[in-house]
Amino acid sequence: MRITRRTALAGAAATLAAPAGRSLRQRAAGKGLLYGSAVSADLLRTDPAYAALVALDCAIIVPEIEAKWAATEPEQGRFSFAGLDWMMDYARCHGMAVRLHNLAWGVYNPPWLAGALASGQAEDVLRHHVSAVAGRYAGEVLAWDVCNEPSDPRWNQADDLVNIGWKKALGAGYVDAAFAAAHAADPNALLFINDDLLEYEDAASQAKRDGYLRLLPRLLARGVPVQGFGLEAHLRPERKLAEKPYRDFLRELAGMGLVIHVTELDISDRTLPADVATRDRALAALARQFLDVVLDERAVRAVLTWGLTTRHSWLATAPEVARTDGLPPRGLPYDGLLQPTAMWRAIASALDHAPGR
Ligand code: XIL
Repeated sequence: MRITRRTALAGAAATLAAPAGRSLRQRAAGKGLLYGSAVSADLLRTDPAYAALVALDCAIIVPEIEAKWAATEPEQGRFSFAGLDWMMDYARCHGMAVRLHNLAWGVYNPPWLAGALASGQAEDVLRHHVSAVAGRYAGEVLAWDVCNEPSDPRWNQADDLVNIGWKKALGAGYVDAAFAAAHAADPNALLFINDDLLEYEDAASQAKRDGYLRLLPRLLARGVPVQGFGLEAHLRPERKLAEKPYRDFLRELAGMGLVIHVTELDISDRTLPADVATRDRALAALARQFLDVVLDERAVRAVLTWGLTTRHSWLATAPEVARTDGLPPRGLPYDGLLQPTAMWRAIASALDHAPGR
């Protein structure tokens, strides 16, 4: 389905609901940055008020699920591109850049994949999938998350790579194979590793940062075309941010020539009290503290939240992040009624205070 006049008109209506003054998109652009969000094609089609806010605030979008394996190749060799095709069209019509997510991950895979990987077909399956999916949108994509969450020190792997099906089948070289296939399919897209749980002061986060500072130079030294690093940043108010070590980590990534995107920023408020004002204060303070550190690093070129509104967010439903008292979460730029939250204002102000690039 092509973009309709209705979608375009919805964009104009957004000026009524949105906060006064400049949009996040405009504020980011003033600093040489892109602001954007994870989105859903179905919701953009069916919730015009939500679509209007996306059109207003986002200069870049990433499909929350439409580019994952389970969506694009639900059965082996049968590809499904309806959602992604629509979204690429939507982005083109609205002058938005696109990140796509992702090409190799341990989860959100179709049920058939585990069997195929275990039966010696891994390399063919990977090449076929990446060339079909990344090849289809070649030239239209700013960035691809090629390997998603490949490292986790809790698994204590000598090569710093989690032992997912891809690694069991192809060894550590699955990363090389995925990047090579992505580069061949779309030589213009920036190719990323994307990961979470790097932001905190605790030993687990430190170990993960250290792991990446071992892994990335190894990959780059053997010519793997890693060009970007995605900081998911699913933040937790109960964990303390590591300001100085995190800054140093970002500097190291930049020193390797990598572009950095904040890819999935949101804040789970499950451990915060019910009172909305208290929650908003904590969420805004954490968003601002995080973004002030991150935006100081000039290699950071884009900030995406994992959703724009808590009306449609995994923060409301996924057991690992949702509140247990059933109250609607508040850790995104708009609440369930599409009113801007304290987090919207924190992001706006962090963008306004960021150095230009
Ligand atoms: C999540 C989506 O938000 C859910 O809708 C889906 O069911 C599972 O994946 N890290 C990632 C994202 O890289 O792909 C995840 O998104 C959230 C954690």
